[in-house]
Amino acid sequence: MGQIIYETATSLDGYLADQHNSLAWLFAVPGGDDPRLAPPRAAIQVMGSTTYEWVLNELGALEKMDAWGNAMSDVVTVVFTSRQLPVPGDAEVRFMSGNVSAAIPQLRELAGDGIIWVVGGGGLASQFIAAQALDEIALSVAPVALIDGAPLLDQRIESDRLTLVEAQQIGQFARLRYQVMYPGHD
Ligand SMILES: NC(=O)c1ccc[n+]([C@@H]2O[C@H](COP(=O)([O-])OP(=O)(O)OC[C@H]3O[C@@H](n4cnc5c(N)ncnc54)[C@H](OP(=O)(O)O)[C@@H]3O)[C@@H](O)[C@H]2O)c1
Repeated sequence: MGQIIYETATSLDGYLADQHNSLAWLFAVPGGDDPRLAPPRAAIQVMGSTTYEWVLNELGALEKMDAWGNAMSDVVTVVFTSRQLPVPGDAEVRFMSGNVSAAIPQLRELAGDGIIWVVGGGGLASQFIAAQALDEIALSVAPVALIDGAPLLDQRIESDRLTLVEAQQIGQFARLRYQVMYPGHD
């Protein structure tokens, strides 16, 4: 069974995006294209609708034929939304909504033995923790304070739930990996 990993870049003060949903602050950090910051290859990536719409817009994927395929290769994308959203060309995009616990078997079936990469946002990642399904949080912490924006997580988590398993400097980024612990789980 593949791991479920929340993989994201974050500001020093725990935001994924600023209050305008911009990542310009992240792209301005020198060395952000270091391959060591690239996550392990996922079988599927799961995201909320704000993130999906940001990616569509950033790639210009609804206008440019190959933009989605070139960026995503053969990774299947699952978007959690309560709305009907457009899909570029022949992109492999599935939509789900509601209880994350109920969606886990379907996500595992889509991923096979591969990694399920939860891209964000923080509310969706928190739903995976509430469902006791998230195995790991992998962060690339940028040397930026945003003060406001989209939070890394939207629920309080105490230290008995997170174990730091790796800390590494990669240029200006701190790469941190936390194992997520659940009461009663080995
Ligand atoms: N720094 C990074 O590496 C990084 C990574 C990822 C994202 N980001 C950015 O961070 C921001 C995250 O935005 P966000 O906090 O709004 O989070 P998001 O998870 O991208 O989107 C939240 C939306 O997803 C839908 N949703 C979430 N859970 C759902 C569920 N269980 N069932 C149905 N719909 C559900 C809801 O919208 P609807 O139902 O109305 O569709 C909800 O408002 C974006 O700007 C994104 O671009 C940054």
